[in-house]
Amino acid sequence: MPRPSKPQGAILITGASSGIGMASARFLCESGYFIFAGVRMRHPTPWSLATIGGEEHVLPVELDVTKRDDVFRASEVVRENLAARGLRLAGLINNAAAEHLGPIEVLPIDVFRHEMEVGYLGAVSATKTFLPLLREGKGRIVNMSSVNGLCTFKYHATTCATKYALEAFSDALRMEVKPWGMHVAIVEPGPVDTPLMREKLIQEFAHRLRDYPREQLDLYFEEFESTVRHVEAFVERIARPPRGPLDKLRRLINGQGWLHPPADVARAIGHAMTSQRPKTRYLIGAQAKLIYAAKRYLGTNAFDRVLGESVFDF
Ligand SMILES: NC(=O)c1ccc[n+]([C@@H]2O[C@H](COP(=O)([O-])OP(=O)(O)OC[C@H]3O[C@@H](n4cnc5c(N)ncnc54)[C@H](OP(=O)(O)O)[C@@H]3O)[C@@H](O)[C@H]2O)c1
Repeated sequence: MPRPSKPQGAILITGASSGIGMASARFLCESGYFIFAGVRMRHPTPWSLATIGGEEHVLPVELDVTKRDDVFRASEVVRENLAARGLRLAGLINNAAAEHLGPIEVLPIDVFRHEMEVGYLGAVSATKTFLPLLREGKGRIVNMSSVNGLCTFKYHATTCATKYALEAFSDALRMEVKPWGMHVAIVEPGPVDTPLMREKLIQEFAHRLRDYPREQLDLYFEEFESTVRHVEAFVERIARPPRGPLDKLRRLINGQGWLHPPADVARAIGHAMTSQRPKTRYLIGAQAKLIYAAKRYLGTNAFDRVLGESVFDF
């Protein structure tokens, strides 16, 4: 579909350098929006303007959501550009996250703090800062949660706690901004094919955990090296695309999953941003739906046994 010559509004996306953020930037750009792409710019990334929409449709904005100065400066850049381009701020997508895996006893407190700072407080900070502009533009807010925001899994305390917090924040925000005709949606995907799932979580687990006290690791893992290999094999398995509906069914029954394309999530975000009847929650993918249904119908103890303790069975 040809892109309209004048954008119908602007959208700010945090964590737009890769994965779901980048896919959403591309999708929304193609849908006719001007994109403020929040990036940390601390390293050369494969991110390139040309792959998304070209300079007239995308403006990279330096934005580490944990830094108050960055958030403030980004709001100035956005405000100036909206005025210069005659656009309204139609949306904010709180997408940035840094996820960690590991037993609670082993992970340092700073890891918990960092994940909350990026995934939860970063979203709070961006939302509070951009609310006046969003209100003026009758804009929408999309918060990127996860099935981890609905169900808890072993070794996922930092991510689940961060996403649960984001869920509660989003629900309260939705009710508070309703009087201005603003909408808040929460997106809850299952596993998605992004650098986070393919590399970052595993690198973190395999390499960073190596520095943690061995005697603590021994309490949780029978043999640490084989555990790491097991996790790597798990990611390799789910990264293999399913070979059709029967393979999907087999993998669901076996408790193995697969990674969804980030474009599926971008489409849901697009719906939340543009539809006349946006949903409040977008639970994405067969696995996320199955896991959440199990949580609702099984009760806590049965869920722990069937899924919580084994879905990432290291
Ligand atoms: N992949 C999945 O399976 C999955 C499933 C459910 C939900 N999600 C959620 O989807 C969102 C996007 O994740 P993804 O899978 O696309 O992972 P990703 O490719 O690793 O993207 C994460 C983004 O967050 C950015 N980021 C990290 N720390 C930041 C900070 N302090 N300030 C600003 N940006 C920061 C990263 O920037 P740098 O490049 O500079 O590090 C990157 O752009 C996250 O909220 C994640 O929790 C992912």
